[in-house]
Amino acid sequence: MTDDVLVVHGGTPLEGRIRVRGAKNLVSKAMVAALLGDSPSRLFDVPKIRDVEVVRGLLGLHGVKVTDGAEDGELVFDPANVESASTDQINVHAGSSRIPILFCGPLLHRLGHAFIPDLGGCHIGPRPIDFHLQALREFGATVDKRPEGLHLSAPNGLHGTKFALPYPSVGATEQVLLTAVMAEGVTELRNAAVEPEIIDLICILQKMGAIIKVHTDRVIEIQGVPKLHGYTHRPIPDRIEAASWAAAALATRGHVEVLGAQQADMMTFLNVFRSVGGEYEVTDARAPKLGDPGQEGGIRFWHPGGELNAVALETDVHPGFMTDWQQPLVVALTQARGLSIVHETVYEQRLGYTEALNSMGANIQVYRDCLGGTPCRFGRRNFKHSAVIAGPSKLHAADLVIPDLRAGFSHLIAALAAEGTSRVYGVDLINRGYEDFEAKLADLGAHAERP
Ligand code: EPZ
Repeated sequence: MTDDVLVVHGGTPLEGRIRVRGAKNLVSKAMVAALLGDSPSRLFDVPKIRDVEVVRGLLGLHGVKVTDGAEDGELVFDPANVESASTDQINVHAGSSRIPILFCGPLLHRLGHAFIPDLGGCHIGPRPIDFHLQALREFGATVDKRPEGLHLSAPNGLHGTKFALPYPSVGATEQVLLTAVMAEGVTELRNAAVEPEIIDLICILQKMGAIIKVHTDRVIEIQGVPKLHGYTHRPIPDRIEAASWAAAALATRGHVEVLGAQQADMMTFLNVFRSVGGEYEVTDARAPKLGDPGQEGGIRFWHPGGELNAVALETDVHPGFMTDWQQPLVVALTQARGLSIVHETVYEQRLGYTEALNSMGANIQVYRDCLGGTPCRFGRRNFKHSAVIAGPSKLHAADLVIPDLRAGFSHLIAALAAEGTSRVYGVDLINRGYEDFEAKLADLGAHAERP
C-alpha cells in the first residue's frame, strides 16, 4: 500500500490565482554557477522543489555553504571553502537529477578534478551526454567512465576551443558556458541553444565578471577570464509551470491567473493557446508608488465557453513550441473538435503518456512518421514521435501511474477534467518541478486529497 497517491474528484473547473517563482531549469544551473565565484552569491525566488534540494546537497558536499536569505525563496551561497567530496557521499545523489553533469566545468576549475554520479531525470528517451563529454574533452579535460560514475581531471588546465553542437542541446550549451567562462582563451560555440533560461544564465555569468557575446545564428563567443565573483540575481519565472496551469484551466473549462508569468518568454505558447480557442490577458507589473500599491504582473488564462479548435503543432528548440509544454496541452486538445497533430522533435519517446489518456476515453494514435511538420531526427529511426488527437472526447476517471514530471502533470490535468474519481499514483514526482502543487490545486478549488 502506498501513500504516494492523490485521489482526484474531477469535473470541477479550476478557478483562482496562483504564483510561479524562478524557473526550475534556470535556478538549478544558477546554483551551480555560484561554485565559480570567489565571493558569495545571492539568488531570489527559488522554488521549493526536489531538484533544488539535490543541487543544494551536492553544493554542500563540495564545501559551498548554502543558507536561507532574509526573503522567502532567497538562497545565499558561500564558495569560500570549496573542497572535494567522496565518491560515496556524491553517489547518494545518483539517479536523482540531471544537473550533476553541469558540475564538471566548475569543479575542474576549482579543484582540478570532478566526480559525477550516475544521472537521473525523466525517462523520456535515452538522454545521452555525449555532447557534454565531447565538449569537455575539447577544453582539455580527460574523462574516465567507471561503473560508479565519471571521473574527470584537467592536468593541463582548461583551454578555449571552437566547437559546434550536433543539435542545440540546452544542457550541453550550459556545460560549455560554465566551462568556457574561466577557460584560458576564447571559446566559440556554434549551434548553441538560446532558450530564455540560457540567456538568463548568461546574464548571471556576466554579473559575475564573464565576457560572453551572443551572436546571430546560434553562435556564442566566450572570452575566458581568470576569476569570477559572486552574483545577486532574480531569475526568470517558470514558463513551463505557467503553461501547465494554463493548460489545466483550458482542459477543465476554468479560469486561472498565473502571477509571475511573463509574456515575452511564452509568446509561442500564447499563440497556440489562442489558436486552440483559449483566452488570455496579460497584466504588466507596476511598481508601487505614493497612492498606488502597484501590481504584480502575470497572465490570466481561461476557457471562453463553446468548443475548442484542433491544431497542428511541432515541438522545437527555442523559439519553437517547448517540448515541456506538449504533454499538458495535449490534455486540452482531447477536448478540441477535429484532429490535432503533435510532432515531437526534441525527445524521441515523449508520447508514451497518451496511453493513460486513452484509458480515460481520449482518442490518440501515435505514429512513427513525422506528421504535419518538417522531417526530424527521429523520422527514420522507428520512434513513435507523432500523435493524432481526435476530439472532443469525454474523459472518465481512471487509476493512473505517473511516468515522468511533465507527463505526470498532464495525468493530473486529465484527472481534474474527467468525470468521477481518479487515483493518481506516484504524484511525489511532481514535486521535482512544481512547487506546492497540492496547495495550488486547493487554491484553485480542485477536489483532491491524499487518502
Ligand atoms: C533540458 O534538458 C531541460 N532540463 C528539459 O526539461 C527540457 O525538456 C530540455 O532541456 C529541452 O528544452 C533541464 O534544464 C534540467 P537537451 P536537457 O540537452 O538539457 C539530445 C523538464 O521536465 N542530446 O536540450 O537534458 C537529447 O537526447 C525537463 O523540466 C544528445 O543527443 O535537454 C534530446 O533529444 C525534461 N546528447 C535533445 O538533445 C547530449 O549530450 C535535447 O536535449 C545532450 C542532448
